Amino acid sequence: MSPGIADGQPDALDLLTAYQHSAVVAAATLTGVADAMAAGESDSVALASTLSLDPRAVRALLGSMVALGLAEAKGEGHVLSETGAPLATDHPRSISAIVGKEWFFYKVWGELPEAMVDGHARVDPWQMRLGDDPQQALGFLRALDDLAGLFGDELPGLSGITEGGTLLDVGGASGSHSAYLISAVDGIEATVLDLPEVGVLVEERHPEVAFVAGDLDQPRFGLAEGQQWDIVLLANILHDHPPAKCRELLASAFELVRPGGRIVLYEWVLDDNRDEPPAVALFALMMMVENEGGNSYTESELRGWLEEAGFDGVELRRGFGPIAGVSAVRPL
Ligand SMILES: C[S@@+](CC[C@H](N)C(=O)[O-])C[C@H]1O[C@@H](n2cnc3c(N)ncnc32)[C@H](O)[C@@H]1O
Repeated sequence: MSPGIADGQPDALDLLTAYQHSAVVAAATLTGVADAMAAGESDSVALASTLSLDPRAVRALLGSMVALGLAEAKGEGHVLSETGAPLATDHPRSISAIVGKEWFFYKVWGELPEAMVDGHARVDPWQMRLGDDPQQALGFLRALDDLAGLFGDELPGLSGITEGGTLLDVGGASGSHSAYLISAVDGIEATVLDLPEVGVLVEERHPEVAFVAGDLDQPRFGLAEGQQWDIVLLANILHDHPPAKCRELLASAFELVRPGGRIVLYEWVLDDNRDEPPAVALFALMMMVENEGGNSYTESELRGWLEEAGFDGVELRRGFGPIAGVSAVRPL
């Protein structure tokens, strides 16, 4: 259930103060409190001393963590609850890198009222992010890989890919989705195309995936004439861009798919009324503040752009999560 929605009935004041929940999760994770608790420290004074934090703040944080179900009182101290355990870095389903990514957005969303007036993103384009603060930008892309690790196993089923072949994962970051496809479908040979700074992440996270440096702003993404793949994947790419750029990206992708081959989009797809599914409707605002001209798009918009680029046989498949698979074929 989302914060502020009890018994299906939203409460505006609860929705307003839900920011406190996010901040408690971030404070517990980013200060090291969750890691120290996972390592066995349960006393607030000892936590404050070990982590150089204010003892009164740590005691209040622990109380808030109990209030939110992230911690439980045990003896004289506190331990992480089952809900709070993934805040620790060493947890097998750790969300600690994802917390870093969301904390970045927490501050960006603070500028939403101003962004509503001018319609501009509050985050620099990827080239600048990777140049100005590579640690933050690469940390963000690691968090995307962690998210894919938790939720991305739907992609092979949603992609419609049943046979092996060469696959180009455009803007594929660390190769999370390629790796899923390699393990789910025999004979997939995947290559991530991304900005040059991102190559280290593919090596670090998914060395079974090849890497080629490219640029979405160049025709054919900077690849040579004549290079073609059986499958071109654009996962979480179109929503970063305005419609005119999406159409350009799909035109480049068309050239890179061999005749008879397939394009796969893994995208947050809105219904035509633009308010369902709920997570995708919220994602449209997220894209507005994160990427200049970004948005969530509808099935009919995606279908229209794919057909305009020359693809046919467009099919959309939805799973349990907010991201859908859209596939289409380049005619022979
Ligand atoms: C939203 S992330 C999507 C990552 C991955 N496909 C996924 O689904 O998790 C956007 C990706 O596009 C890449 N990107 C952004 N601008 C690019 C450009 N001009 N050329 C190549 N890649 C770019 C980023 O480095 C990043 O990996």
